[in-house]
Amino acid sequence: MRLQNKVAMITGGASGIGLAAVKRFAEEGAIVIIADYNEEAGYKVEAKYLENDYDVAFYPINVTKRESVNNVIAKVINKYNKIDILVNNAGITNDAMLSKMTEEQFDQVIDVNLKGVFNCTQAVTPSMVAQGYGKIINTSSVSGVYGNVGQTNYAATKAAIVGMTKTWAKELGRKGINVNAVAPGFTRTPMVEKMPSKVLEKMESIVSLQRLAAPEDIANAYLFLASEEASYITGHVLQVDGGIMM
Ligand code: CAA
Ligand code: NAI
Repeated sequence: MRLQNKVAMITGGASGIGLAAVKRFAEEGAIVIIADYNEEAGYKVEAKYLENDYDVAFYPINVTKRESVNNVIAKVINKYNKIDILVNNAGITNDAMLSKMTEEQFDQVIDVNLKGVFNCTQAVTPSMVAQGYGKIINTSSVSGVYGNVGQTNYAATKAAIVGMTKTWAKELGRKGINVNAVAPGFTRTPMVEKMPSKVLEKMESIVSLQRLAAPEDIANAYLFLASEEASYITGHVLQVDGGIMM
């Protein structure tokens, strides 16, 4: 049990990579807070995992709204006294070529993927600082590291995650808080189902391991960074992409 007695909040925990992480963290003994915008999916996941005796609780949240984030975090701390681990996993795409991308498309992705991560981290850190312990794991992407056609907005946010991760690692290290990021490659979740199949096939063909990631591949990296095995790692961006580009 690598996360026994730990309270872990996973944003976007009702789908895809977040959903796989909820399961992995619960299997390792954590109390897992599933924080997601999608209430229908969130309550379903909560019910299913409670049946399996996992210690999980769903809290509806909109990471773009500071009031929503602050409310949820206050409720969780009130109930469990602490949040030890924050996985900033919630994210969206809204792809278009630069020539066609609207201001709304740009702003929407910035709001969720960038401001949402800032909102959650800023709200959680005071309690981590007070207890002198915390693990923050952010979600970047191969698109943020290498760029990707049609993803001006998304790639900008995922590159920004790298900058925020390193900044927070420097600010919070002396407070006992590790801050790292995972940069996944293309992973089989509802997010990639929206891609034209031709583009997805092309991406799969250039992966050294010759397959897309499973959500569990990424969840395992989150778990490692959340565990004591990673206690001397901070400010790191762990690429979990099957060697798509090197
Ligand atoms: N590489 C090179 N050229 C590309 C390309 C690529 N990957 N994708 C498109 N193009 C080219 C097209 O061939 C086309 O060229 P011509 O004008 O010379 O014909 C031009 O760009 C325009 O392409 P489309 O006709 O497809 O333009 P569109 O406006 O209809 O659609 C798009 C553009 C929305 C970006 C669409 O191509 C698309 O959805 N592409 C996939 C984007 C993508 O990879 N998203 C990843 C989502 S998953 C995710 O984000 C998770 C993660 O972190 C990795
Ligand atoms: P997904 O679309 O399956 O799940 C995303 C979850 O985030 C959904 O449950 C959704 O309701 C939630 N969410 C969206 N907006 C929200 C908001 N405002 N507030 C709270 N929750 C919100 O996506 P997936 O693929 O599981 O992605 C998870 C993370 O991994 C994202 O940050 C994504 O950018 C990143 N990623 C995904 C890759 C992939 O290929 N699937 C590759 C690289 C990174």
